[in-house]
Amino acid sequence: MFIDLIIILTGVRRIGKTSLLLVALHESKIPYIILDARKLRENYALKDLYSLLSEALSSSLDKLKDVLRKIRGISIMGNYVEISWRGRSYVSLADLFDHLNEKRIIIAIDEAQRLRGPLSKEIKNAIAHAYDYDRNLTFILTGSEIGLLHDFLDVEDNSSPLYSRYCYEIKLERFKESLSKEFLKRGFEEFKLKVDDAVVSEIVKTFDGIPGWLTLAGNYYLARRSVEQVKEMSIRLAVNEIENLIESKRKISEITSRRYREALKCISEGANSWSKLHECVSEKEGTTISYSVLDNILRQLENMSIISSYEFLDPVYKEA
Ligand SMILES: Nc1ncnc2c1ncn2[C@@H]1O[C@H](COP(=O)(O)OP(=O)(O)O)[C@@H](O)[C@H]1O
Ligand SMILES: [Mg+2]
Repeated sequence: MFIDLIIILTGVRRIGKTSLLLVALHESKIPYIILDARKLRENYALKDLYSLLSEALSSSLDKLKDVLRKIRGISIMGNYVEISWRGRSYVSLADLFDHLNEKRIIIAIDEAQRLRGPLSKEIKNAIAHAYDYDRNLTFILTGSEIGLLHDFLDVEDNSSPLYSRYCYEIKLERFKESLSKEFLKRGFEEFKLKVDDAVVSEIVKTFDGIPGWLTLAGNYYLARRSVEQVKEMSIRLAVNEIENLIESKRKISEITSRRYREALKCISEGANSWSKLHECVSEKEGTTISYSVLDNILRQLENMSIISSYEFLDPVYKEA
């Protein structure tokens, strides 16, 4: 288990990456640390990255104390691991990895595409260094925004630090229809709730085989909600996520943000080709939209794993 030095675990939101990661780490019995990169804001600084590392090392302190004690620039204060990110006792990432390599350790980074930003190069250099020298370390990187994760790792670009390093990719796929039904039925059985097959079918039809949605829908239904209410509540959740995405584009410009909204709307209404999409967005806006601008938006939506071939990857997002 975990022979490869870099493992990437990809799949759309709610497909079960974090769950699988946690189960696998737990069962492997190998000491590990987990960094949740979602906690990093855009354009995060070195200090933020080191806070995340401090937290991760602190959570696994029991298993790593012996190694951490020997590192200059790291102090253990009670249950908390402090790391110097500046000054004379500064510990570089590569140094840290070299020290951790004393032991077999797994370093997991959840939603690793969030590491993109000004520190990308430095992080990738450190991982490349560890790949070459620290054979005891295994990195597991997960990502919901699959294109962005591949962009970040960039193993095919010969100017990238990780160029030609081998990454073993595990792509999580949704449950098949029969498994989704079985999954819901078993869940309801656990709560001794008798549920009509028609209800189960309706839920599976709406949420496809995405376990995160199925679990949520099952729980809403258990809370005595009707299937209609379950759908509404889930769609509302997805609307929030999409609103956040559109809002985040406002940093680029008001127009860009609006165009993301229009492009998403057009695709949800069936604009399933380049010409239809261009026509639809131009029509909504009453502007002759630049091809390259729209192409860029479409590519970003694909990289974020929201759209693929002019289709939503998540049916709830489409509704939203
Ligand atoms: N294999 C599975 N079996 C049962 N439930 C699962 C499974 N995978 C995921 N889930 C449920 O779906 C939810 C979302 O999964 P999560 O691992 O957070 O997805 P991701 O990290 O891919 O966004 C979990 O909280 C869990 O309830
Ligand atoms: Mg997750």
